[in-house]
Amino acid sequence: MSDAVTMDKIVSLSRRRGFVFPSSEIYGGMGSTFDYGHYGVLMKNNIRERWFEAMVRNRDDIVAIDSAVILHPKVWEASGHVAGFTDPLIDCRTCKLRFRADKLEDSSCGRKPSKHPGETPECDLTEPRRFNLMFETTVGALQEEASRAYLRPETAQGIFINFKNVLQIARRKPPFGIAQIGKSFRNEITPGNFLFRVREFEQMEMEYFVPPNDADKWYRYWIDERVNWYRHYGLRDSKLRVREHGPEERSHYSRGTSDIEYEYPIGWSELEGVANRGDFDLTQHTEYSSTKLEYVGQDGERYVPYVIEPAVSIERIMVALLVDAYDEEVVGERDRTVLRLHPKMAPVTAAILPLIGKSDDMVAKARSLYEDLRRRHSVEYDDNGAIGRRYRRQDEIGTPWAFTVDEQTLEDDTVTVRDRDSLAQERLPIAGVGGWLEDALERDWKSPKGD
Ligand code: GAP
Repeated sequence: MSDAVTMDKIVSLSRRRGFVFPSSEIYGGMGSTFDYGHYGVLMKNNIRERWFEAMVRNRDDIVAIDSAVILHPKVWEASGHVAGFTDPLIDCRTCKLRFRADKLEDSSCGRKPSKHPGETPECDLTEPRRFNLMFETTVGALQEEASRAYLRPETAQGIFINFKNVLQIARRKPPFGIAQIGKSFRNEITPGNFLFRVREFEQMEMEYFVPPNDADKWYRYWIDERVNWYRHYGLRDSKLRVREHGPEERSHYSRGTSDIEYEYPIGWSELEGVANRGDFDLTQHTEYSSTKLEYVGQDGERYVPYVIEPAVSIERIMVALLVDAYDEEVVGERDRTVLRLHPKMAPVTAAILPLIGKSDDMVAKARSLYEDLRRRHSVEYDDNGAIGRRYRRQDEIGTPWAFTVDEQTLEDDTVTVRDRDSLAQERLPIAGVGGWLEDALERDWKSPKGD
């Protein structure tokens, strides 16, 4: 097995198999913006579902929320985003390109042969200026200062401003968490690397409110929980690491931040961040809104909880899963590209295939099995083309198992099940396929690519 995965191969497979398309293509495209096709949607649903299961459904201490994208503009003053959510920006008056001042050595000048900005005599760079990453919009009919609002750049603030509601209505006491999944928007100056850095992405964030003295314990706890979640869904240990930020690297609100990094084809980069935000957010919103956001116990004990926050986007997880899963091998003198995805992350759990698409009997049996399984699983029926080609297609979208109806099925009501990774085939009774699939989905899974 090879690990010759590049971002270009992932982009090409995603497009070829209908996971992700460049957006607005018929109008010439809109750089670094993407639309999700059928398999991309199914895979995103799985990522969302697995996260929600681990963070909310399987726990007693975390509740969900779904806040608005456009919040009161004062939210972003209180959070520090209006004043501080900026990148230093430099323009080149010659090539008209825009660069991040702190990333010049990673940027390419618009002129050929390509150099870094400022390295050719023609480069004419402006002084750095601060550029706010929030997308502005106006609310209502009047386009005036008073109607200015922002698309949220993180989902977290929608959680903090609902702290009191949850405390009262869900009757929680620290430690407890509020989780949210939803779109966030950032006018990134240098988007790129496929879905890794985009301007519109879906965040999954959880704010865990704890007694201040316990904050460090919970910070470590959430780093471990989240790393274990990635391991559970098959990301290889050798490609995962935790990197703690130094004090100079931390955000204004942070008392401690660790990045869970994955070794993407672009190098080790942040997959998810886990931060100890202290009491910064609740204190700021108390001050700006004049609403006290604190915990008051029955015995009169009162304090502003500290917040531990694991935050990630579906996009970064999707790229990590695809990269980790991508494999090429030669089987029987033919090249095979396969996505070795965890079965619970794969867009399609099983394919149902009649060996001969023109056999009415095989089609009838296969369709009946498909109709039965589709009520509980994401399954696909395919009778189009040679069986080898159908297997290859399923391999490329990462389908872990294929059930094939053949001549023997017509005699004894058994089917073969083919394993995507080992290519092993076994026979089982058609009536037992549903149960077999349930069991197989619950088995521990490790990437066949190794550790
Ligand atoms: N509430 C904290 C927060 O938003 P962040 O480190 O700016 O912190 C959290 O973002 C996570 O959101 C990142 O770890 C990454 O997974 C994802 N993310 C941030 N910017 C992104 C972008 N432009 N495109 C895709 N994902 C992004």
